[in-house]
Amino acid sequence: MIFDTIKQDCLSCNRCSLHEARIGDPVTFSGPTNSKIMIIGEAPGEEEELFSKPFIGPAGEKLNEWLNWIKVSPSSIYITNTVKCRPVNTVGPSKNFTPFKEHIQACNYFLSQEIEQLNPKVIVLFGRTAAQALGFLKPGSNIQNIINTVYTYKGSSLLIMKHPASLLYAKRDPDKYNLLREEYKNGFIILKGLIDFINS
Ligand code: URA
Repeated sequence: MIFDTIKQDCLSCNRCSLHEARIGDPVTFSGPTNSKIMIIGEAPGEEEELFSKPFIGPAGEKLNEWLNWIKVSPSSIYITNTVKCRPVNTVGPSKNFTPFKEHIQACNYFLSQEIEQLNPKVIVLFGRTAAQALGFLKPGSNIQNIINTVYTYKGSSLLIMKHPASLLYAKRDPDKYNLLREEYKNGFIILKGLIDFINS
């Protein structure tokens, strides 16, 4: 089974420097390998690395809340990340960082195989890193211009949203939080429309 091969290949990956900081296995994907819907996040965080499963930490909780809101079961979706190893500082306090271009490029070896094999009807990209990986955002350009827009990518409908983790960071600024919440709400309404369409 090709997804088992991708997983096995990923477990022994040393294509970029991120493998040096691994304390567990790389975090591959979760969900059915025949799902019509694929979510691509940025990279695993602490909890994800600990349990080898994407989106099970605080950002995953947010994601589940929104999926439940549109009455879509999180377990029906193929969920993966742009980068499979946790990008974390190895010097000083243990702190996550945004993956660099070379990490994204190295891990594209896996992501491109996943997209090709799954051949989903709908792809959702969460955040700048995923948008950069698939060529929808140049480094330094503004994600605001492309969020909540539906594109076509290799025959799939592709929706770009901000990362659910940004809601967690915005908590201390009520205006920013409310604005972001509205953006998410609109994004998930669009996603619901796409899912209803493919299921009709
Ligand atoms: N957890 C993940 O698995 N991916 C993210 O992008 C963020 C948190």
